[in-house]
Amino acid sequence: MTLVLGIESSCDETAAALVTDGREILAQAIASQEAEHAPYGGVVPEIAARAHAERLAPLIERVLSEAGKSLDDCDAIAATAGPGLIGGVMVGLVTAKALAMASGKPLMAVNHLEGHALSPRLADASLQYPYALLLVSGGHCQILRVEGVGKYQRHATTIDDALGEAFDKTAKILGLGYPGGPAVEKLARKGDPAAVPLPRPLMRSKEPHFSFAGLKSAVLRAHDTGEHADADIAASFQQAALDCILDRTSSALAAMQPVTALVVAGGVAANQTIRAGLQNLATENGLAFTAPPLPLCTDNAAMIAWAGVERMAAGFGPDPLDLKARPRWPLDPQAEPARGAGVKA
Ligand code: KG4
Ligand code: ZN
Repeated sequence: MTLVLGIESSCDETAAALVTDGREILAQAIASQEAEHAPYGGVVPEIAARAHAERLAPLIERVLSEAGKSLDDCDAIAATAGPGLIGGVMVGLVTAKALAMASGKPLMAVNHLEGHALSPRLADASLQYPYALLLVSGGHCQILRVEGVGKYQRHATTIDDALGEAFDKTAKILGLGYPGGPAVEKLARKGDPAAVPLPRPLMRSKEPHFSFAGLKSAVLRAHDTGEHADADIAASFQQAALDCILDRTSSALAAMQPVTALVVAGGVAANQTIRAGLQNLATENGLAFTAPPLPLCTDNAAMIAWAGVERMAAGFGPDPLDLKARPRWPLDPQAEPARGAGVKA
């Protein structure tokens, strides 16, 4: 049995987990920083880094003791080495390096996006490469052909905002607080998805990419008219976002066949309306559909430990103890920058 300790600290969740190559999560713990960042309506990097530094070591102790394991029992220590907020990433990576050095165990540096990309395989042993992946989180919105560990072909990305970001901004406009995705989803259940006319940016465009900035501005204008109920705005926004996703994913699928399945991962994959829409799209295309269980969608350390397991099995690593944290780290370095893309792409 291979046992990997995983560490995640790239945004506002501090997390540790112990995962085996038999897909067993022996223990996991997450400390969310929602309360710290809520007054600011978004993640404050400096506050995040300090919170990670205070919480990570006790979390690691907790998962080891819950599983009845010690560092000696681990075959590797995997940590997110980017992309993300650099202060937080450094806290996790430096902790992993110190543990690796003290225990003599190999360090596995994991790309956070690879953690999301492989998370569906932790939950679903039958999922085979190559699969089509819609990766939708607070910082990213991409469609990738996942061909194997470390082999990612990016078909589409956002030219402005990420999908989770659009949910968070909509939540802010509607006064729903931070983090916004789950709050928008909840309010949308009470609204009419056809009530507010909103744009579907880049829908049916020949370019494969996403755009959500115009949708967000339209939400703001609709709200400012004072003519619509908040629930109707939330439902109409979610419907517009879903229409964009289905349109973009549908045309990407045509370009990336053959694939074994359509898979969604990342924080926004927790959204039930989006999951249901993608499930239908997969069925229409004769494909299996996989979405990880909700706790594996949002940031967590089990997916980082699992990426460590997969990387070891594929012959990657160990990584050197002087490895640098990377604030930017694309999964597909060959991908052309999307035309018109801002700095976030
Ligand atoms: O993957 P994740 O936890 O962190 C990043 O790597 O960014 O994704 C967080 C994002 C946030 O923007 C959050 O609002 C969104 O995922 N999110 C959701 C839902 N749950 C989380 N968006 C829509 N519906 C949800 N249920
Ligand atoms: Zn993430």
